[in-house]
Parts: sequence; C-alpha cells; structure tokens
Amino acid sequence: MSFPENRPRRLRRTEAMRRMVRETSLSVDNLMYPLFVCPGKGVRREIASLPGQYHLSVDQLAREAEGILELGIPSIILFGLPEKKDNVGSEAWRSDGIVQRAIQAVKRAAPELLVAADCCLCEYTTHGHCGVVLDKASGDVDNDATLENLARVALAQASAGADIVAPSGMMDGTIGFLREALDEAEHEGVILLSYAVKYASAYYGPFRVAVDSAPAFGDRRGYQMDPGNVREAVREAALDVEEGADIIMVKPALPYLDVVAELRREFDVPLAAYNVSGEYLMLKAAAEKGFLDYERAMVETLTSVRRAGADLVVTYHAKEVAHLLSKAW
Ligand code: PBG
Ligand code: ZN
Repeated sequence: MSFPENRPRRLRRTEAMRRMVRETSLSVDNLMYPLFVCPGKGVRREIASLPGQYHLSVDQLAREAEGILELGIPSIILFGLPEKKDNVGSEAWRSDGIVQRAIQAVKRAAPELLVAADCCLCEYTTHGHCGVVLDKASGDVDNDATLENLARVALAQASAGADIVAPSGMMDGTIGFLREALDEAEHEGVILLSYAVKYASAYYGPFRVAVDSAPAFGDRRGYQMDPGNVREAVREAALDVEEGADIIMVKPALPYLDVVAELRREFDVPLAAYNVSGEYLMLKAAAEKGFLDYERAMVETLTSVRRAGADLVVTYHAKEVAHLLSKAW
C-alpha cells in the first residue's frame, strides 16, 4: 500500500496517538544513578566538572539515598574518593574504606534501594591506573596481580552489603575470578554487573576530574577498548557471559549505540549502557549557553539508548528524568 492510501502521518496527529504507538518508552525502572562519596561529615559539594552532581559525605549520601528511593529510582552505583591514595589503591578494599562505609549507611537508610559498587582501583591509586602498574614508562598494568586486588575489593563491597559489584577495569578474566571469589565467601547472591565493553574514551574527562583519577603517566588504551572495534566487543561480552556476568554493560553509550544494538542481537542477558560524564556535560554546557532545550535533549538521548537495546541506563540524568516522568501525565 502506498500513498495516498497509506498516510503515515495519521499516527502522529495527537500526543495520545503518538503515545499509543510509541515503540520505546523511558521508565524510572530502567535507571541507575551514579553517586560520589567523599570523606568528612555534612559535606555536599557540587562537582565543578559535573554541574548538578555532588561529592557527598557518608551521612549526606544516606539522606540522598532516601530521596532517590522516593523518586522510584531502583538503584545507585557508588564511586569513592578515598582519604588517602597509595601505590596499589588499598583503601578500595579496607573494610572501613569509604565505599564500604557508604554501602552500610545507604543500606540502613534505604534498604530497598539496590546498591551497586564500582569495583576498580583508579580512584584509589596515586598513579591513577586501574591496577598494579608494572612499568612506569609505559603505564603497563599487571593483569593477574590486579585480579587478586579486585577480588579483595569485591569481597569488601559484598561484605558491606553491596547488592551488585561492577568491575570496570577491563582486566582479562575478571568476571570468572570475582565470581569464584564471591561464591567461595558465600556471596553467591551478589550480582556481577560487568563493564564488559568499555572503550578508551575522551568522554570520561569530567569524571576523572571529579575523582582525580586521570593517569599520572601513560593512558588506559592498554586495557580499555579501541573505539574502532565492534567485533571485538562481541568477543569481550561473550567471555564475560561465559564467565558468569549477570548483566553486561557498554560504556560510553551515545558514541557506541551500534555496539549496544549488536550486543542486544547477540546476547539475551540483561544489557546496560553507561551514559557517561562527558555525555551529560555536553547537554548541560549546551543548555547553559541557551542553544538547546535541555529536558527534550535529555529524554531524546536516553530514549535512543533504550531504543538501541539497553535494558538499563546508568545516567547522571536519573533524578531529573524521574522528576520529569512523575509529572508527565
Ligand atoms: C573507573 C571508571 C571510569 C568511569 C567509571 N568507572 C573512568 C575511567 O575509566 O577513567 C567513567 C564514568 C564517567 O565518565 O561517567 N574505571
Ligand atoms: Zn579504573
């Protein structure tokens, strides 16, 4: 059937019609909200590189968690700013480390809120790399030695009450190694959310400023993926699924929507995408200049990530979207 019998515009005439045939919807159910926890008490400091996001001390974070639960957002993911960094990032696995204390406080204040913990070392190491550095000149990271430390971090997070452990360092064999370590310690109920496909991206810039984790030498291209590759993304994800990842994630989201779509076709485990700091900042900065409608751009962006095939979107926009959805109709 073609024109004039077929008039596709018929279905676009009113908002009710558009809603009725809309293929992709955005719901608060699909959101995970990243939060940054810092030392101190009563601290709620806006992050210069992430307007509208805050460094929160443990007490403030607990209050924030209650508000997030009230908005209907099901989960958060925690990043920590340690008291003190060192060469291996040992605060990441101390039982009284910043994220472990944060997990406990959130679980007390808002028990139903799912708490994920980013499991990496770059926020805790003086050199800013995601593991044990072998060679300063090249910034080469020792894969297998790093796995041992990541297992310590995962166990500390699980013991503190994390529902989800999310390794983000792109070390080979991480998922299998952590699954075994968690199961051995009777944490078989803890979910592994794998940053299975994480690209070496310029879009992490504002995040690295926020947690002061830019590598002091070298870069992360020896472990994070090359932006030109998509077949390799399928291989990476296949390994993680085989090793027992409960959820796999693509990061960043917008520049890699084709990768999200490809993984959606290839795998049927839940799929997440991380709408990263640089993506968030682009909209904030453009809106601040008055050159785009922030709310519409935000909804369009997040809808595109869902349309590409992500079940779950990790995003700094989560609270703003939740507000918007709650008053939409
Ligand atoms: C740490 C980590 C990074 C992000 C999440 N976990 C940064 C990096 O690899 O430098 C980025 C998050 C964002 O940009 O919002 N491995
Ligand atoms: Zn890292």
